[in-house]
Amino acid sequence: MKKSYYSNVSKIIISKNKIKKAIKKAAKWIDYEYKDIDSEIVLVGILKGCIPFMGQLSTMIERDISMDFMNVSSFNGEDSAKNLPKITMDIQTDIKGKHVLLVEDIIDSGYTIKFVIDKLQQKEPASIKIITFLNKNGVRKVELEPNFSCFDIPNEFIVGFGLDYKEKCRNYEFIGVLRKELLG
Ligand code: IMP
Ligand code: MG
Repeated sequence: MKKSYYSNVSKIIISKNKIKKAIKKAAKWIDYEYKDIDSEIVLVGILKGCIPFMGQLSTMIERDISMDFMNVSSFNGEDSAKNLPKITMDIQTDIKGKHVLLVEDIIDSGYTIKFVIDKLQQKEPASIKIITFLNKNGVRKVELEPNFSCFDIPNEFIVGFGLDYKEKCRNYEFIGVLRKELLG
């Protein structure tokens, strides 16, 4: 039976199965990347888009980690980040001297993640790396690349698996292109 939410997307570009496989790879990358580090790794998720990705990812990592979250308002839900980002909820963890892995749903212009990194640097962590579920190609406004990304995607407005359009569609188990008629 077709789920009703399929009517909001014109096509599915990443299926549930592909997502699961990619997240397994991402977890393996984390285990390998930090294999020589015994001290604490703090995963910092950027809400709300990180929720499905970080949820699945965290259960597949084979080392001890801790988790914290930030809420950053940067996006008006329509086309691209037009306003300057603002931290509306900061992490509670003292990250001084700790290794931080930022977990993002998508990097588009790069403004959000750049802003977050600058803020976190002030707390003097041992290192900051970036893992993103999706990486939008050809649209970066700041020079910044993630250390790991699960998928490179074209410059289309996509929804699902954490990504929203006006707060909807985050719960979809796939990544799809929002139907053009719904935009605006
Ligand atoms: P950036 O600051 O331009 O890199 O934008 C990052 C934020 O914009 C992400 O965390 C998303 O919330 C949002 N975003 C960017 N592209 C899309 C999209 O295609 N669909 C839904 N949200 C998006
Ligand atoms: Mg986001």
